[in-house]
Amino acid sequence: MDQSTIAHPAALLEREHEVGRVRAALRAAEQRAGAVLVIEGAAGMGKSRLLTEARTQAAEFGLRVLTARATELERGFPFGVVRQLFERPLLEADAGERDRWLAGAAALAADVVTAAPTVSAALAPGPPAGDSGYAWQHGLYWLASNLAADSPLALVIDDLQWCDAPSARALAFIARRLDGQSLALILATRPLDPSLTPEAAALAADRAVEPLRPAALTETAVGALIAARLSDASDDRFVRACLDVTGGNPFLVGELLEELAARGIEPTAAAAGDLGAVVPRGVANAVLLRLARLAPASAALARALSVLGDGAQMGDAARLAGLGGADLEAATGALVSAGIVESGGTVGFTHPILRAAIYADLSPAERERLHHAAAAILRERGAPAGRVAAQVMHTEPAADRAVVALLRDAARDALALGDAAGAAALLSRALEEPPADGERPAVLLELGQAHARAGAPEAIAPLSEIVEHGEDAAAISAAATELSGMLFFAGRAAEGAAALRRAQRRLPAGEPVREQLEIALLGLSYTSASARREAGTTIAALRDPGRPARGVLMATTLASLAMEEVLNLRSASTAIDLADRALAAGLPLEFHRGENWTQLALATLAAADGLDAALRSADEILAQARAGGAALTVVTLSSMRALIAVRRGDLAAAEADATAAIELAPDLLGVEFLVLAVSAAVLVGLERDETPDALRRLIDRAGVGYDTEFTPSSQLRYASGVLRAAAGNHEAALEELRDCDHPAFGGENPAMLAWRSAAALSLAELGRHDEARALAADEVRRAQSFGAPRAIGIALRAQALVGPRAERSQRLKEALAVLASSAARLEHARVLVDLGATFRAAGQRTAARKPLLEGLGLAARCGARALERRARAELAAIGVRPRTTDRTGTDSLTPSERRVVELAATGGTNREIAQALFVTEKTVETHLGRSFRKLDISSRRQLPDVLANAAN
Ligand SMILES: Nc1ncnc2c1ncn2[C@@H]1O[C@H](COP(=O)(O)OP(=O)(O)OP(=O)(O)O)[C@@H](O)[C@H]1O
Ligand SMILES: [Mg+2]
Repeated sequence: MDQSTIAHPAALLEREHEVGRVRAALRAAEQRAGAVLVIEGAAGMGKSRLLTEARTQAAEFGLRVLTARATELERGFPFGVVRQLFERPLLEADAGERDRWLAGAAALAADVVTAAPTVSAALAPGPPAGDSGYAWQHGLYWLASNLAADSPLALVIDDLQWCDAPSARALAFIARRLDGQSLALILATRPLDPSLTPEAAALAADRAVEPLRPAALTETAVGALIAARLSDASDDRFVRACLDVTGGNPFLVGELLEELAARGIEPTAAAAGDLGAVVPRGVANAVLLRLARLAPASAALARALSVLGDGAQMGDAARLAGLGGADLEAATGALVSAGIVESGGTVGFTHPILRAAIYADLSPAERERLHHAAAAILRERGAPAGRVAAQVMHTEPAADRAVVALLRDAARDALALGDAAGAAALLSRALEEPPADGERPAVLLELGQAHARAGAPEAIAPLSEIVEHGEDAAAISAAATELSGMLFFAGRAAEGAAALRRAQRRLPAGEPVREQLEIALLGLSYTSASARREAGTTIAALRDPGRPARGVLMATTLASLAMEEVLNLRSASTAIDLADRALAAGLPLEFHRGENWTQLALATLAAADGLDAALRSADEILAQARAGGAALTVVTLSSMRALIAVRRGDLAAAEADATAAIELAPDLLGVEFLVLAVSAAVLVGLERDETPDALRRLIDRAGVGYDTEFTPSSQLRYASGVLRAAAGNHEAALEELRDCDHPAFGGENPAMLAWRSAAALSLAELGRHDEARALAADEVRRAQSFGAPRAIGIALRAQALVGPRAERSQRLKEALAVLASSAARLEHARVLVDLGATFRAAGQRTAARKPLLEGLGLAARCGARALERRARAELAAIGVRPRTTDRTGTDSLTPSERRVVELAATGGTNREIAQALFVTEKTVETHLGRSFRKLDISSRRQLPDVLANAAN
């Protein structure tokens, strides 16, 4: 057999277009305009060959090339592909390079690309779809970006259809953020089925991706291949017959020609008619024929390799095939020269189709025997659990305890790396083995947890079984907690709460894990109205532990009590005290399983006018969450901070935080966490020249509902009502605002939802003055009894506006007295302008002047453009035209520019800012450039001054 075709594959034919696109992508990478190419085609269409070409070209361009190839058997190894890409360069790097490459956010990926997974991560409570998943993607993106910053980089990945899910997610994450990067991503894949490989399919379908679909070879190319392999003098009919039989698929053409060469067939017109008989059942036969011609030892080795998969170690294959010494060498040599395998440090088939053909030819019994033996061989030499488990997954159950232990280990590793679906598959198999009776509950729990983290409804059955029939207290508690979180995310929080209560009842009093159940139940009851009903007795039994308080149970108890003060309209100052102590005692920071403790404490502070304390805590937690890449926490905290900023009357900051959350959320699960951000955006937008229509579209686009039982959604219901009123639709406004009247949602307390004031204004507009006055009076009573100045001021203002004209200025002055000492600047400004307007309408021009000028100044500092305009109009009516120059340029910044500028002012580099905001460095550059022009400055050193001037 002529080996030259194997060692030197024939020239690349009819791929000028594809090679041109590859070169364009590489050139783009060189010029910091990163690009993604996905080469898609059926088996044998020449994708890998194009990737070889891409690697050659990339090297010619001087790019650093990192490559990986996914394989069928390794699909279950989380981050396997990512490791192939980065592990080696990191190992070979000197200390300086490693420091640079793993600097900043890239450090978040260090675990994934270097060490074994930390098992503790899998056991730590986390959100089902995993915030750590986001942190790893974020970290891997910055690792690639740091490498690319050192020298332009090409990541070349073959056989994406077999890529493990976490790697595919990370690659998609990178692909969407290539703007401004010296990075080309070139991938090859067989056609993808979104139901089988959702992650890879999503990547290939991304807008950022340029698809390339190499076409079948034409008669010309097939003729050239025949000339190179058989003979120059080929008959046209023979060429056409080759094309017909193979459909122009380069792999099939190659295999056919190999077979013809082996049989000594000449490319004549006469032979053309026989071609159909040469490959009667397609390529598999040709391959197996070739194999059959080899010695039995070679065939055995090939079968062993087909079971072990690509990248197998020669030693394992030899043991599996029962070969050694000279036999092994001869067998390997024969397979290499037959063009079936290629060998380096590890061995692999020259083409995936060959492995598939040989593997498919094994009888079921032979397959079982080989996988079984392979598992034993790998286990004996201490191969990683995942590798052994991949073999076990192809064997029949045999009640082997060691197998169960191994599968559980492998599942734990998979879960730690965010492959919950893979972990569930391993654990299902462990359950089939089956485990010993005593071990079954533990496996069942792990299976339920894995399904739950994957967001799969299959979690419910095993977890419920443990809650109902389990005997181990810790397992019952863990199962109930996992189940409640899972049901919360499925919009079934009440069932989740019921499961927690059932678990509590099954455990004896004094059992320590009951505490955890209590915390989970309380946590759920503040995000879900129906869960709150389930938790009634638990809430009623809460007692202030006194000070000093420490630990999670005390902290969560205090936070719950603080919110009870608000929900039950008790005392604002007690609420602040309790919330402060809860934060100091160490509330769980991260959002998980429907519990959001810091959010609860901050919401309490915001309602009770502890606005400065709320802002400080939010800043602190947000900084930590950004450094840790905890994107879900960044979304929820930014949303909360936006709401706090609205209440403090810092509208630009509120707008910046709200848009930050809204922009980041699509990367994560659960849009419901956006309700606060969208509410803030609506309330701010009304003051900042957004039209009611545009704001309504914002609500619709965010896809968040405000008719859900998710309690924070009441804020959006309120904002939506206010928006209807602003659009002049007072009937609809009334309807929505009245829907806020629900104790679990905060409807009792105007400091939480000032819906009665807003509704009173709409009633007055509709001429229903008696109702308006009654409602406003009710709101004043409530606000005063709670004691938060902002809410009292809002209520008094509404009462003034809907009440008799003669009393209006007096009432407004009362409101002013309350607000002047509060942090609620926007409400303060509003009352000043109302007061001035009231004086002006009564013809008291002199009295009008001062409140209007003060109101104007305050409105300008809040960034409240609509109010500012109203103040100017009123002033103009009494002949006063104040200067327009006291507004600083910061007000003209867009929310995104504002976010970047704030971080730049504290000394962050563009890279650091990009990492903190989860955007690309290019985005930061663009925003900073525009901001500098708007602010008319030339250096970031001037930023702190500019911002300080704007703030006072
Ligand atoms: N344009 C071409 N000109 C000449 N030979 C080619 C061409 N494309 C592919 N080949 C040859 O065809 C064979 C199959 O190509 P390749 O391995 O790239 O297919 P593939 O699309 O990667 O298939 P799979 O999906 O199975 O991995 C290889 O031997 C390759 O050298
Ligand atoms: Mg290929």
